[in-house]
This record gives sequence, C-alpha cells and structure tokens, in this order.
Amino acid sequence: MELLGVIGNPIAHSLSPAMHQAALKAAGKEGRYLAFLVEPEELGPAVYGAKALGFTGLNVTIPFKEQVLPYLDQLTPEAAAIQSVNTIAFSGGRIIGHSTDGAGFAAAAKHELGYDFSGKTALVVGAGGAARAVVAQLLAEQCRVYITNRTEQRARALLALAGGDTERLAVVPMQRQNLEPIMGRVDVVINTTSVGMAKNKEAAAGHPAELELPIAAELLLPRHLVIDIIYNPKRTLFLETAEKKGCRVQNGVGMLVWQAVKAWEFWWGITPPVDVMYQAVEASLP
Ligand code: ATR
Repeated sequence: MELLGVIGNPIAHSLSPAMHQAALKAAGKEGRYLAFLVEPEELGPAVYGAKALGFTGLNVTIPFKEQVLPYLDQLTPEAAAIQSVNTIAFSGGRIIGHSTDGAGFAAAAKHELGYDFSGKTALVVGAGGAARAVVAQLLAEQCRVYITNRTEQRARALLALAGGDTERLAVVPMQRQNLEPIMGRVDVVINTTSVGMAKNKEAAAGHPAELELPIAAELLLPRHLVIDIIYNPKRTLFLETAEKKGCRVQNGVGMLVWQAVKAWEFWWGITPPVDVMYQAVEASLP
C-alpha cells in the first residue's frame, strides 16, 4: 500500500486527493492519497512523521513550498533553482525535494495546444512563487521573458534566475505606457497572479479580485496566446476578455494536472492515466 498526501494550510479545497486517488485506482495501484492540514510550527514534524510512517511521498502547497526546505536532505536541480518544493519523495532513507510546477506548466501547453516556448517571447504577469517556477521553466526552454508586477521590486528579484542577462529576462513596469511598446513582440501572455481567482464571498465583498484584470484589456492582441494559471474559475475574466480580443487561451487546469503527472514520474518513474486526472479535476470544479 502506497501512502501519499498533500500538506498545506488551508487545504480543504485541494483537488489533489481527487486527482491522485482517481489515477491510483485507474492505474491499479493500491494506495491512499489524503489532504493534511498542517500548522506552520508542525511542518517539520509533519514531514518527518510521514517519513517515519513509510509514506512514498508528499505534495506541498501554499504556504509551505519554501518553508519546507530546511526539513529536506536533498533538492533536485529544478527545486534548487527556484528554492521551492511541491513534491517530496522518501527514498533510500532520504527526504528529497523536487518541483514539478514549471515542468507541469510547460507540459500543459505542449499537450493541450502543441505549443513550444522555445524561441518565443513571453510576458509573465506576477512575481510570486508561481511566477518563479514559470519563469525558470521558460528560460530553460530558451524563451525570452518579460516580467511585470504590481510591486516592481519583487519582479527585479526574479532577474537572478537568468543571472542578470537582460537579453533573456527583463522587468517592465506595469503601467500601460511601459507595456504597450513590447506587446507587438510578445507571443504569449501568462497570468501568475491571483487576480481573477474565485474567492469566498466574504473576501470578495472586501476586494472583488475576480472582477479585475491582471493587465489592461487594451494590451491584448490577436497574436497572443493567453495563459491563466488560475483553474477556479475555469474561465477567468482575463481569459474571457482575451477570447473576445481574438486570442487563443488556456486555463490552469492543465498545469494542475501536469504537475501531478510529473510527481508520479518522480515517485515511480511512470506516467499516470492523464485523462482520468483531467476528468477528476473537471468533475470537482464548479
Ligand atoms: P504565488 O506563490 O501563488 O505566486 P504570491 O507569492 O502571494 O503567490 O504572489 C502573488 C502574486 O499576485 C504577486 O505577483 C502579487 O503582486 P505583488 O508582488 O505586488 O503582491 C500578485 N497580486 C496579488 N493580488 C494582486 C492584485 N490585487 N493586483 C495585482 N497583483 C496582485
């Protein structure tokens, strides 16, 4: 029996248990994948406890992807590059941290759209943890990247991912007059911010983020592929707006599924039934 789970806080709405459990069943693997709500001060004991109990692995989500690093014995190059871990394997007595977020992001575009980032130019909106994974992956795939973020200083911190090579990675201030001149050169626009995400009603009442756009609609051109890594709602206002502008669009369901696919490859070296994972996610979303 394989024991697996996801640790986070909050965790109640995670789609990972439904997705992984459905795949385990379809693959004929005897296993349990559960969601665990962990308090920040219990993060170390949670990881060590899972190891002691013989878990195969864990997924790690908000807010622990960076905080979990001190409890790991080893990082893969992918995790080391972005100092973020979303997948842990307990293997040979060691706790190994890996990140499948970037590879999952790229695999989704490849498998859903046949899209290859190599030689393209991307505009990444946002500079948080998700942006770090996406930007590192784009750079690894020889894509040129512009980053824009509400807090410009945070975007500047990401420049280190390209070793300060401004030909490959540059920050553009978020004001429309700064973005406008580059949009004709941009092939793909990627929203990694939480702007547009479904919030509970109380949060939405104070700050209706799902009614906002990450960048002004006027900046979008029909030549752009527009990717929103948000999966709830499946069709954000940003994607709806982009479609009206004639852009090709992709939502965050694919990244969610493919980061899980890549976790299976890391744990067992096998590819799970991808269609089953998509179906489990689609069935769990409103
Ligand atoms: P994650 O790890 O999921 O990327 P994060 O690290 O909290 O989450 O990053 C959230 C991103 O969404 C940031 O780029 C944030 O911008 P700031 O760096 O300026 O905070 C962006 N973001 C969140 N709410 C926003 C809003 N209302 N308008 C613009 N950007 C927003």
